[in-house]
Formats: sequence, structure tokens, C-alpha cells
Amino acid sequence: MRACSVKQGIPVYSGKAKSLYRTDKDGELLVVFRDDITAFDGGKKDVLSEKGSLNAQVSARLFSLLGEHRIPTHFIRLIDNATMLVRELEMIPLEVIVRNIAAGSMVRNYPVREGTPLDPPVIVIDYKDDSRHDPMLNDDLIIAMKLLSREELARVKDLALKVNIILSRFFEARGMTLVDFKLEFGKYRGEILVGDEISMDSMRLWDAKTKGSLDKDVYRFEKGDVLAVYRQVTEKVLKRGENP
Ligand code: ATP
Ligand code: TYD
Repeated sequence: MRACSVKQGIPVYSGKAKSLYRTDKDGELLVVFRDDITAFDGGKKDVLSEKGSLNAQVSARLFSLLGEHRIPTHFIRLIDNATMLVRELEMIPLEVIVRNIAAGSMVRNYPVREGTPLDPPVIVIDYKDDSRHDPMLNDDLIIAMKLLSREELARVKDLALKVNIILSRFFEARGMTLVDFKLEFGKYRGEILVGDEISMDSMRLWDAKTKGSLDKDVYRFEKGDVLAVYRQVTEKVLKRGENP
């Protein structure tokens, strides 16, 4: 029989969209995806019933896909539709963003047109600190702040680019374009693993044909029915028998 991890008491951490719970097993946590949705540093907030479970199921499928490609991640298994069992990581306070096509803050902050292909992909790393509005870092700052060693930084970037190739192919095969996405990493027994989530909240996905948004931009910019879009992406992600 599979060892059972039981959710214990109050959350150890509750963020903007997820809550973390201890289990009866050391080194494992439950991540509960709540129905809260926020944008613009928490300036826009709503609760959308079912949103948590859609993101959890997509995250679980994408972490499994990465595991199949030998990318080390925190994911153990899905406990219910909105809850993932994960390895507890010592999180590295970085948001590692990979961009295949210019959009979002890249277009707002620099003279680059939305939709410009970026080849090779661009990696941008922000310092995860809401009180400082997640300022952008560079390699020297990451080393000076002792967030990572040079070798660890190279590993993080290498993993981020590998994840990009795997996810880009996966979405392309389902009629979607992976424009950009954000990863978080953490350490588990000295090893760097991909943590947190990979979902419609943390990616920018476009319909390959129409270039319409299939992600949190639908909520940010009120482009339509965000739940309907999240459901549509979830259905495509969970559909079996597609390549790759
Ligand atoms: P943001 O929305 O800016 O990412 P947040 O803290 O509000 O920040 P949530 O997604 O609500 O984000 O909270 C989840 C928290 O759990 C994040 O701080 C994330 O870094 C942390 N986390 C994710 N995976 C793990 C893990 N395996 N072990 C420990 N902490 C984790
Ligand atoms: P970015 O264009 O930098 O920010 P914004 O969402 O403000 O336009 O975001 C790039 C990608 O990374 C996008 O898919 C959303 C994701 N992301 C997060 O999930 N969390 C974050 O805190 C940031 C900055 C980005």
C-alpha cells in the first residue's frame, strides 16, 4: 500500500494563490491550489471557483512530463484535483523567466514590439520580494547576494532552457505557443529541483493560429471568460495520446 501523507492543521504558508501544509512525513508538503487569482502585485484580486483545481491538474501533468525527461522537480503526486504532494524545498528567492516571444514586461520596459520572436530564448531573473516589486537581477548581483554560486546559476539556467524545449514542444503539439513562463527553484538535499507551479497563472500561452491569450492575461486585461479559457487549456493538456 502507498504511504499516505496526511494534511496537518493550519497552513505553514499561505501565499497569493496557494497554501502549503505539513504532512505526517518529514520533507514532504501538500500544496493546495486555491481559487484566488491576483494580478498587478495583488492590486486586482478575485476568487474563481474551480480555478485552483485547473491549475493544479495542469501543473501535475507538466511536472510529470518534466520527470519523464529527467528534469528534477519537487512533484511527487496529485492527492486530489487541487492538491499536489511535493518534496519540501529550501526555496531560492528567484523568479526565472524564459521568453520565446516578446510580450508583457519586456514590451512595456524596452523598445521591442509584442510578438517579436526571441531566438535564442531570453532568460530574465527577478528577485522574489513583493515589498521590492521583484526587481530584476543580473548574474553578478545573484553571486554577490549569495543567492547561488556560479555553478548553481549555470545549472538553473541550463534546467530552465531544457524545460523550455520540453514545454514548447508539448504545447506546439496541442495548437498552442509557449510565449514565456516563470519557474522557481529550490534545494533538496543539496540538489536543485524545479518547484512551485507551472500553470496558466505562470505562463503566457497563445493560440497558435489566432494568437489569442490562453493564460492569466485574459484576467489581467479582461480579454474574456478566464475560467472558460483555463478549462480549454486544461482539457488539451490532459488529453492523452498526443505527441510528444
Ligand atoms: P508569488 O505569487 O509572487 O509567487 P506567493 O508566495 O504569494 O508569491 P503562492 O503561489 O501563493 O505565491 O505561494 C506558494 C509559495 O510556496 C511560494 O512562496 C513558493 O515559493 C513556495 N513553494 C513552492 N514550492 C515549494 C516547495 N516544494 N517547498 C517549499 N516551498 C515551496
Ligand atoms: P512578465 O512579462 O515579466 O510580467 P507581467 O506578467 O507583469 O507581464 O512575465 C513573464 C512570464 O512570467 C509570464 O508568463 C508570467 C510569469 N510570471 C509569474 O508567473 N510571476 C511573476 O511574478 C512574474 C514577474 C512573471
